[in-house]
Amino acid sequence: MNNHQHPNTQNELSKMEKDQSYGIFRHIDEMNLFFSFPKNSSWHLQQIKQFLTEQGVCFEKVRDRYFQKRVYRRIKWLEKKDCEKYYSFLRKSEEEINWFKGTISDHILAISEVKNIPKAFQKSLENDRNNFNLLLVLFKSAGLDLDNYREHYLQHRVLNRISKLKMSNLSAYISYVKTHPEEIHNFVGSLAINTTKFFRNKSVWVYLESQLFPFLNIQSQNETKSLTNKSIRILSAPCSSGEEPYSIAMIHEKLCSKGIVHRPLEIVALDIDIDAINKAQTAFYGRSSINHLDPYYTSQFFHFESLHPKTKEKLFGLSSEITRKVKFFNYNLFESLERFGKFDVIFCRNFLIYISKEREFDVLKHLISVLNPGGFLNIGKSETIDLSLDFGLKIKDIASNTFQTLKL
Ligand SMILES: C[S@@+](CC[C@H](N)C(=O)[O-])C[C@H]1O[C@@H](n2cnc3c(N)ncnc32)[C@H](O)[C@@H]1O
Repeated sequence: MNNHQHPNTQNELSKMEKDQSYGIFRHIDEMNLFFSFPKNSSWHLQQIKQFLTEQGVCFEKVRDRYFQKRVYRRIKWLEKKDCEKYYSFLRKSEEEINWFKGTISDHILAISEVKNIPKAFQKSLENDRNNFNLLLVLFKSAGLDLDNYREHYLQHRVLNRISKLKMSNLSAYISYVKTHPEEIHNFVGSLAINTTKFFRNKSVWVYLESQLFPFLNIQSQNETKSLTNKSIRILSAPCSSGEEPYSIAMIHEKLCSKGIVHRPLEIVALDIDIDAINKAQTAFYGRSSINHLDPYYTSQFFHFESLHPKTKEKLFGLSSEITRKVKFFNYNLFESLERFGKFDVIFCRNFLIYISKEREFDVLKHLISVLNPGGFLNIGKSETIDLSLDFGLKIKDIASNTFQTLKL
């Protein structure tokens, strides 16, 4: 493991997968290419790595050799002479940083690449293509179409179910699916990874509070006067159990009370999981969900509500000045979003990483089509957008992974 771990991403991914699968890991390239750097490159290579780490690129689980290969190939491709030239180019180009992020993140490791998984599991899932395809056909015939999700991700979910059911191979699981129709429901449950938390990934909230909200407020003064009373519109999709949209709402309320923002806020929050939406609408959270929050937020916006009926954990309710800013909908993000109107900012975090590349393209198109000109799109820390696909986006803030639509 190298010295430049990013504090957030890998830990969060591991936590996210706790109890749910064997984990999502960064891509490790095993190709054995012969290559050599000119002498004296190692210092610049370290500089490149250090710089990218500061820009939020996560190198945990990426072997040095793989990193070096990527740099080497990139230098050749861009026809830069050496590491030093590439380094100075990289420092000036946000597109290039984004490209680099894309080459080493946004990959879900194949089952065979994950350590600590019993060999029998790996073999039955990866070498037994026919059985794996048969399982997908079985699910499809029962009404569950999994074409939209990445294969490696599905393999992790199947593995998770096999291990929960204490089975040793895929054939046993297939027989079980055939005789237990309720397993479809359980599998869907395992697909919807709801992990989320208030103010997840600090850099996003720093950017929203210090740049985005103040900018959207000033924008109203520069444009027509009537905008001042017009709501800032934000989409949070998927929103899971509400922590993300409520974090946005709390920052907005704080800035209003300080007189920094005057425009009202309207958040539309969507998720496919009805249980998550119900929890979000109730807006009760246990102490463990809020004890990492800045005391300003807990004292201003949370009040003790009741004890959890089963666990007896204290539940805290969010005040109505926060909840009234958010409207929740049980909605599938693979569908068009036009009915929700246009937005100034869209948060689509920790979703793209699970879906197939084709669906990712469609979802991004849907999202961008409901952004106002010059609107902002924020995606998850370990996700990337391939800007060569001409979405009409540019990078706005690389640390928080925020993009902006080009004004036509
Ligand atoms: C990891 S959570 C992300 C929550 C939040 N954006 C965050 O980053 O903390 C992923 C969510 O995606 C939802 N989801 C999965 N497939 C979906 C779909 N097709 N449409 C809408 N939501 C979906 C799941 O139910 C889950 O709540």
